[in-house]
Amino acid sequence: MPLVPMTAFLPRAKEEGFAVGQFNMNNLEFTQGIMEAAKEEQSPFIFGASEGAIRYMGLENVVALAKIAAREANVPVALHLDHGSSFDVVMKCIRAGFSSVMFDGSHYPLEENIRLTQEVVKAAHAVGVSVEGELGTIGGVEDDLEVDEADAQLANPKEAIRFWQETQVDAMAIAVGTAHGMYKGEPKINFDTIAEVSRQIDAPIVLHGGSGVPDAAIQRSIELGVGKINVNTESQVTCTQAIRERLQSDPDMIDPRKYLGPGREAIKETVRSKMRLFGSTGKA
Ligand code: 13P
Repeated sequence: MPLVPMTAFLPRAKEEGFAVGQFNMNNLEFTQGIMEAAKEEQSPFIFGASEGAIRYMGLENVVALAKIAAREANVPVALHLDHGSSFDVVMKCIRAGFSSVMFDGSHYPLEENIRLTQEVVKAAHAVGVSVEGELGTIGGVEDDLEVDEADAQLANPKEAIRFWQETQVDAMAIAVGTAHGMYKGEPKINFDTIAEVSRQIDAPIVLHGGSGVPDAAIQRSIELGVGKINVNTESQVTCTQAIRERLQSDPDMIDPRKYLGPGREAIKETVRSKMRLFGSTGKA
């Protein structure tokens, strides 16, 4: 299957009450592990590529690998820019073949965020590319983004509704208490905000920082209108644990395939468990 925009599956997710996972691709092993889980689970999914991952892998490699994976998995797959920081980056990704982009204008004042997101939506929708916007700031560290917990600001529901009405983004990320990275305690999710915003907008809500959120909280947020959930750190943790165990069990090992292979397998199992939890299994 060719890459598709998120609009190929997100409206159905919101209607039927499941969520589609965004799994970040960081290298070949991530790309393959995610793809294999989706193929076996018959689940749609979103490859997230951050600007850091694009710098690491190379833009053309990201697109080529995602296209090959989508063909092989034969399920609906979107290639999505994660936390795009500017109109320029968004346009570069669209020209290279991304089927979906996030423009993260959350650090701008509301009016400016709306204006910049509108520009992205106009350009992206003209060529059939879906758009995610963000309101409020999500705490934690992800690549170039670092937001101190104390500076993380939950989204104001009224502003979120206005943001969606004026931008018409296809997916709406709002800060509701989750954070990028693993949690020290249990995250306190503002379910009321999810419910209030979801009732008033057509687009599904996006939950960033999906790693380490308890299953029950994930299920509740999906019931209330979350239709896209981002997971990166948990795959990194399980992958690195598997590699570390292999290297510790055989200090003489030098063939990267022998330790990266188990890392890829760990990513696959993590992604599979998330697809089942999100209810996207069998929805391809
Ligand atoms: P985690 O790394 O916490 O899973 O968050 C991923 C994310 O939200 C990507 O935008």
